[in-house]
Amino acid sequence: MTANRGQGATTETRTDSSTESVTERVAGSPGVDDAVIESRDLKVFYGDDQALQGIDMEIPEKQVTALIGPSGCGKSTYLRSINRMNDLIDVARVEGDLYFHGKNVYDDDVDPVALRRKVGMVFQKPNPFPKSIFDNVAYGLRVQGKDDGDVEGKVRQALERAALLDEVEDQLDSSGLDLSGGQQQRLCIARAIATDPEVVLMDEPASALDPVATSKIEDLVEELSRNYTVVIVTHNMQQAARISDKTAVFLTGGHLAEFDDTSKIFENPESQRVEDYITGKFG
Ligand SMILES: Nc1ncnc2c1ncn2[C@@H]1O[C@H](COP(=O)(O)OP(=O)(O)OP(=O)(O)O)[C@@H](O)[C@H]1O
Ligand SMILES: [Mg+2]
Repeated sequence: MTANRGQGATTETRTDSSTESVTERVAGSPGVDDAVIESRDLKVFYGDDQALQGIDMEIPEKQVTALIGPSGCGKSTYLRSINRMNDLIDVARVEGDLYFHGKNVYDDDVDPVALRRKVGMVFQKPNPFPKSIFDNVAYGLRVQGKDDGDVEGKVRQALERAALLDEVEDQLDSSGLDLSGGQQQRLCIARAIATDPEVVLMDEPASALDPVATSKIEDLVEELSRNYTVVIVTHNMQQAARISDKTAVFLTGGHLAEFDDTSKIFENPESQRVEDYITGKFG
């Protein structure tokens, strides 16, 4: 895919050795103080079809932002644009700007692989590797060459943060595929956070799970937001209301209808269409 940007901003590279190229600052970039991700007039096309219509949004750091809306309105497309997963879809084309820490991730000098280390992703269907529980979590550390130090400590910490350690402590050598669906999803979350990303993107992570497993994932998402910025797509309105700080409501055609504090969206939305959607009148 060719990332076709809007008007290019001039970059001003900070000489901060703790940052990689993806966290360089853009001079005069838009945004509020605690926004870690900002999209400006972000459009995504699949061939001739436009899936997102110029989305402006600012996602705050270390909070949970929920993306809701009817099927096909572009929630997954928006999520994938944040860590350039749309690059992997041949017909996808992105226009506009998507800033991560003020740096446009579609700039030519951004390495998508490095970006995805900082912006990890968890999918709808749990997808553990056919490896042991330990190796699933250690995988990213090994790929990144971070397996020189205390791998076991890092694996255990990730499993603990994913609220799975207590359940698997005595079976770290067993296959990840032998876990229940809910445990597999928490294993995938452990795998995603083991490499210490800043942002965790989740695309309907609980939709295939039973109520008990779902509630564990919900508790976990709230817990994760102490350390990570979480952006989560959900079809479950109550779930969005329960676990998120901000909610973005997308509507058919790829429009962002409203983005605000979750309490505002669910108690007193600005637009009638959003009210109709969240009260179940359509979608
Ligand atoms: N890989 C693709 N190739 C072509 N069109 C796509 C592709 N992925 C999504 N689209 C189209 O883009 C639009 C938005 O899709 P997207 O998957 O982002 O919606 P969504 O809000 O996540 O829907 P759902 O709730 O069903 O998951 C839809 O019209 C869809 O058909
Ligand atoms: Mg989707």
